[in-house]
Amino acid sequence: AARIDQPGPLSGRHAIVTSGPTHEPIDPVRYIANRSSGKQGHAIAASLAALGARVTLVSGPTRLADPAGVTTVHVEAAREMLAAVEAALPADIAVCAAAVADWRPALEAGQKLKKQQGGALPPDIRLIENPDILRRLSEPGPTRPALVVGFAAETECVLDHADAKRRRKGCDWILANDVATGTGTFGGDDNAVHLLDDRGVESWPAMSKQAVADRLAARIVDHFAAPDPSGRG
Ligand code: CTP
Ligand code: CA
Repeated sequence: AARIDQPGPLSGRHAIVTSGPTHEPIDPVRYIANRSSGKQGHAIAASLAALGARVTLVSGPTRLADPAGVTTVHVEAAREMLAAVEAALPADIAVCAAAVADWRPALEAGQKLKKQQGGALPPDIRLIENPDILRRLSEPGPTRPALVVGFAAETECVLDHADAKRRRKGCDWILANDVATGTGTFGGDDNAVHLLDDRGVESWPAMSKQAVADRLAARIVDHFAAPDPSGRG
């Protein structure tokens, strides 16, 4: 969809948002995927655009419509997502909401894998690690966005694991959600998150994914209006 220039507090800023799952090919007809719906990432892209940002949404396969007023780039595998993100740089803001597959098949078969006659064993699919898009975006350098935000889906020790993840990846903020309890599960419409930065934790009540997106976008506006004293703003 063509972009509509919407004036607002983020006018003049470019935001890159990743969303959805990735599909990692096994052969021409099969892939490895996960249950991400893309709802949270798409909502964030829409909220940032509504506040005036120019938004590039890099999305894996979802059932969602492209958000209005956003440039959407459709990708399948993690490596394509990374390439599309790098092509969209520079940006002021990056939000990584995609559920990037951690591993992909080491080899993509050129032809459909066939069952063997005579009871041969099923194929072993060897996996290798995918590039970490959030980590790449967070690396210091001339194209590092001023504000890099990640998500952390955890099932235990949510705040500790999320804070360790924030430090390990080098991003500025992490939105942590507990995917073991009722809210925040893949595919649902609601989410309960904690926003962690280098100053502490802010726990938000359960709300719709669209409300999480609006609140995050408002926090981003505040951040650029009054950069934090650590000097990263
Ligand atoms: N992420 C990414 N590229 C990857 C893996 C993750 O950009 N290859 C991003 C996600 O979009 C999310 C954040 O990193 O913003 C955390 O993802 P998560 O799966 O929770 O963390 P991992 O580092 O992959 O660790 P693990 O799955 O082992 O908990
Ligand atoms: Ca992961």
